[in-house]
Amino acid sequence: MQTTVLAIDPTHPDPAVIAEAAALLREGELVAFPTETVYGLGGNALDANAVAAIFAAKERDASDPLIVHIAEFDQLNDVAREVSTTAHDLAERFWPGPLTLVLPKAQGIPPGVTAGGGTVAVRMPAHPVAQALIRAAGVPVAAPSANRFMRTSATTAAHVLEDLGGRIPLILDGGPADAGIESTVVRVDDGNVTVLRPGAVTVEALEQHLGRPVEVAVPKAAVGAMASPGMLERHYAPRARLHYDESASPAQVVERAMFAAEGGTSVGLLLAEEDRIPGLSSYIQVRRLGRERDLEQVARMLFATLRELDSVGVDEVYVRAFPRQGAGLAVHDRLRRASARE
Ligand code: TXA
Ligand code: MG
Repeated sequence: MQTTVLAIDPTHPDPAVIAEAAALLREGELVAFPTETVYGLGGNALDANAVAAIFAAKERDASDPLIVHIAEFDQLNDVAREVSTTAHDLAERFWPGPLTLVLPKAQGIPPGVTAGGGTVAVRMPAHPVAQALIRAAGVPVAAPSANRFMRTSATTAAHVLEDLGGRIPLILDGGPADAGIESTVVRVDDGNVTVLRPGAVTVEALEQHLGRPVEVAVPKAAVGAMASPGMLERHYAPRARLHYDESASPAQVVERAMFAAEGGTSVGLLLAEEDRIPGLSSYIQVRRLGRERDLEQVARMLFATLRELDSVGVDEVYVRAFPRQGAGLAVHDRLRRASARE
């Protein structure tokens, strides 16, 4: 299959391009499109064949459910059977935006979307291209991140092409994704809010809005219970082996990277803007994610930088730890999984 990449203005998307993409979705085809978090691989959420095609294109395991994207609050009733007061309150505060709510699923949602489960993940993206596309398609759009299974999420159209070229007919190129990290997935039970996947909406923002603490599911414990199947330990992995030790200081991480490089390994090193490197050998590929205080910038750069280091061909990547607050919690979560051994 020939994959077409069409450039689209991220703030004022061309209606003709949107109409073409929407027509493909209505015909059961797949379209990759930008959202404010990462690129999504979209298909008609009400069409079981389109949903199956998403899993096939990504080589994704059928046990990992998809997020359904909507453009209007009215569409929520087509996706979720029931929206609790707390879920409604969170949607009103954070939509459109990078928050995904896990809710009881509506009848019309094919079982493939939810991996056979009784709940469905829903989000209303803020990106103008995503909104225009969902509106023009006239159906809710199931869209996982537009990467192949086990790869880091795609934050540019070039990443999507790298992973899914030849497998899907169309990629809308709206430039680099703004957040660079996926949405925050939350489960709401009886007013209890649990973060299943830390993401672009921070835990602090959720707590500030709710006026009470929010639980963050510990991924390891969640694997058995399959609270969020995407929380499998090894995930979001680059090709290079990633070394992430939260307890190491930046200076220790630099030291370990230099030691590995001296042993003849080709090494990448991810640091903060302000980290000092004493007499660094020129054969280490150093990349700066952003200042330690600017965790949103670090999140924005993370996946793209890991992909870039893969394309340079390093064997091992050493990364310094960033504070676990704000967007740093999602950064920590992705680094921890990308460095997991199994
Ligand atoms: O930012 C995002 O969320 C992007 C953009 C495209 O919207 N999408 C995305 O989708 O990251 P995906 O499929 O790569 O990740 C979806 C996550 C997975 O961890 C999955 O297990 C979880 O959401 N999930 C989906 N449905 C669920 C459900 N019913 N219950 C619990 N977790 C669910
Ligand atoms: Mg994903």
